[in-house]
Amino acid sequence: MTALLITGIGELTTNDESLGEGVGGRLRDAAVVIEGERVAWVGSSAVAPAADERFDATGRAVLPGWVDSHTHMVFAGDRTAEFEARMAGEAYAAGGINVTVEATRSAPDAELEQNLARLVHEARLGGTTTIETKTGYGLTIADEARSARIAGRHVDAVTFLGAHVVPSGADPDAYLDLVTGPMLDAVAPHVSAVDVFCETGAFDEAASRRVLEAAAGRGLATRVHGNQLGEGPGVRLAVEHGALSVDHLGFLSQADIDALAGSWADRRGGSGRRGTVATVLPACDLSTRMPLAPARRLLDAGTVLAIASNCNPGTSYTNSMGFCVATAVLQMGLTVQEAVRAATLGGAIALGAHEEGWCDPQGVAQPAVGAIRPGSRADLQLLDAPSATHLAYRPGMPLTAAVWRKGARIA
Ligand code: NIG
Repeated sequence: MTALLITGIGELTTNDESLGEGVGGRLRDAAVVIEGERVAWVGSSAVAPAADERFDATGRAVLPGWVDSHTHMVFAGDRTAEFEARMAGEAYAAGGINVTVEATRSAPDAELEQNLARLVHEARLGGTTTIETKTGYGLTIADEARSARIAGRHVDAVTFLGAHVVPSGADPDAYLDLVTGPMLDAVAPHVSAVDVFCETGAFDEAASRRVLEAAAGRGLATRVHGNQLGEGPGVRLAVEHGALSVDHLGFLSQADIDALAGSWADRRGGSGRRGTVATVLPACDLSTRMPLAPARRLLDAGTVLAIASNCNPGTSYTNSMGFCVATAVLQMGLTVQEAVRAATLGGAIALGAHEEGWCDPQGVAQPAVGAIRPGSRADLQLLDAPSATHLAYRPGMPLTAAVWRKGARIA
C-alpha cells in the first residue's frame, strides 16, 4: 500500500480536540500520512514519518473535506422564473416542487444521471467529499425508485423523500398510504434513511408521524424537514422519534431549541436515545428570503449543529459549502472553527457517518468521515490560504487548491 506524506501544513483542522487546540483541534506546522483510503498518522511536520510520496502544502491550511448532509440533486428542469419572482417580492411556497416533479418524471434516466454527475463534480471541486442526496422529485413508485438507484451510483448516502409534497392531482390520504406502503417498499433497498417535509402545504403532524413510523418499521433511519416556513411540530416530532437530523429551522420556539439540546443531554446521560442533529441551510435561507436559522442559539444551548448546502433547483441552487460556511460566520454569528466543524463533523454525525462501519449505497462499510485522525477516511481539502479563517475573511473566493477523497487526489 502506497503511503503519501502531506507535510508543511500551516494550519491543520483535525476536529479532534485531543489532537490540537480549540473546537477544530487545530495543529500548526503539521503533517498527515495517508495509507490507502485512510489517514495513518497526524502530527508535527518536524517528526513526520517517511512515506513513498510527499506533497508539500507550503504553509497552507488543510481541513476535512466538506460533508454535505442535505441535498436534492436528482432532478431535471430549471426554476429561474420562480427565483426571479421571489426576488421581486413573491413568497416561497412548497408548490414549486411540483414543477420540478413534472420535469423529472419526463426526463430520461441519462439526463437525470448527467445532471447529478455534473452537480457532484462541482461539489467535489469545491472540497466536498461526502454527499447525501434525496429522492422527492419523482413521487410515483417507479420515479422514486429510479431516483434512488441513480443517486446511489454517485453519492455517499441516499434518503427517500416520497413525503415531499402530495403530487398534483393525487388524493392526500391515498398518497400517504402509497408513500408509507408500496412506494417505501420499492425504494427501501436503495436508501439508508427516510425524510418527511413536515410543514403547512406539505405533510401535517399526523401524516409525518406515519411516515416516520413506517420508516422505523423497516429499520431505516429518519430525518425531518422542519420549521422552514413557520413554527410547527417538525422539531418536536424529530426529537421524539430519534431522527438523525431535523433540517431548516428558520422558525424555532425556545421549547424547540430545548428539545434539540435535550436530545443530546439524554444521550450523554446514557439514556440510549439518539441525539437529533440541528441542520441549518444558510444558502436556502438567503435564496428564499426567510429568516436565518438561529445557529448561534442552537450551539449555545448545547445542540450538535450541521451546515449543509440543500442544493436543489427551487430553494438553494448551490452546492458551495464554502459559501454556506462564510454565511454562517458572517451572518449567523458562528466562529470559523464552529462553522467548519458543523460543515464537516456535524454533517457526518447527521449521516451517522462519523463512526467506523457506516455503509455506502453499495453496502460497503466505510471508515469514519468528518475528522482527520488515524483511522478516518482520508478525505481532505487544501486551501490556497494560510488558515481556514480565510473562508470567511475572503468570502466567495475560490480557495480550494486540492482535494483528496478516500486517499486519492480528485481535484
Ligand atoms: O429543502 N423544503 C422542501 N424541499 C426543498 C425545496 C424543494 C423545492 O422547492 O424544490 C428544501 O428547501
